[in-house]
Amino acid sequence: MGLININMFLIGILSISHRTDGYFEQLIDQCRFISKDLQDMEFIRSEVFNQVEIIRFNSTVGEFVGYTEYGFSIAKRMNSDTAYLAAIQAERDSVCKPNAWNHYRSIMDKTVKPTLRLRSVTPPSDRHPAMLICSAYSFYPKPISVSWLRDGHEIKSDVISTEELADRDWYYQIHSHLEYTPKSGEKISCMVEHISLPEPMVYDWDPSMPESERNKIAIGASGLVLGAIIALAGLVYYKKKSAGVLP
Ligand SMILES: *[C@@H]1O[C@H](CO)[C@@H](O)[C@H](O)[C@H]1NC(C)=O
Repeated sequence: MGLININMFLIGILSISHRTDGYFEQLIDQCRFISKDLQDMEFIRSEVFNQVEIIRFNSTVGEFVGYTEYGFSIAKRMNSDTAYLAAIQAERDSVCKPNAWNHYRSIMDKTVKPTLRLRSVTPPSDRHPAMLICSAYSFYPKPISVSWLRDGHEIKSDVISTEELADRDWYYQIHSHLEYTPKSGEKISCMVEHISLPEPMVYDWDPSMPESERNKIAIGASGLVLGAIIALAGLVYYKKKSAGVLP
């Protein structure tokens, strides 16, 4: 039975179990590491009998250690076989490091930037007249920080955030709500920090009207300008014409 257990610190590369007549034996190999350069990589092989670990090889120690009376005798025998010890010690570099490197390359190193959306909604209570929701969508991995700024300073009160919600497709989303009382001239921003972003992403809230309204006004204004130009042209033409007719 093979087991791949993905963890920042531990890859259980192999776990072999064997059960006969009520006896249960396991052989567990682990690659343990924290630093990304894998310098601290440790290879551990444990032999477990009826849930009791009897011997353990630890690559940092370089030999087997026994934990039960039977374990002591096996450890002693195995430690006297230098070729066998060297072969187990080599697994740290031949098995653990390539496996860990593969995990970094295929999973742990992957990051996806969030897509941000900032919108205004009706507040649920009447403590404050305004409420904003800052949403971050489709990011990976899970850890993220969403905060609110007023003129560059963090707002701590009246902020409610959801947990990071799993989209079930490896991506996550999160929503943060801010209830506030708008003041003229202030700048409210939503700031998102995530491993995929070299710098925090800051989104300023634009309190003016929504884009559709702005577009309507822009179309109306263009019509007005066009109308004014035509009217002016007509007036100039009329003036010229009437000036020409005069004696
Ligand atoms: C392996 O041995 C080192 C050095 O004694 C120790 O610090 C480490 O905790 C051991 N690891 C395990 C999993 O027993």
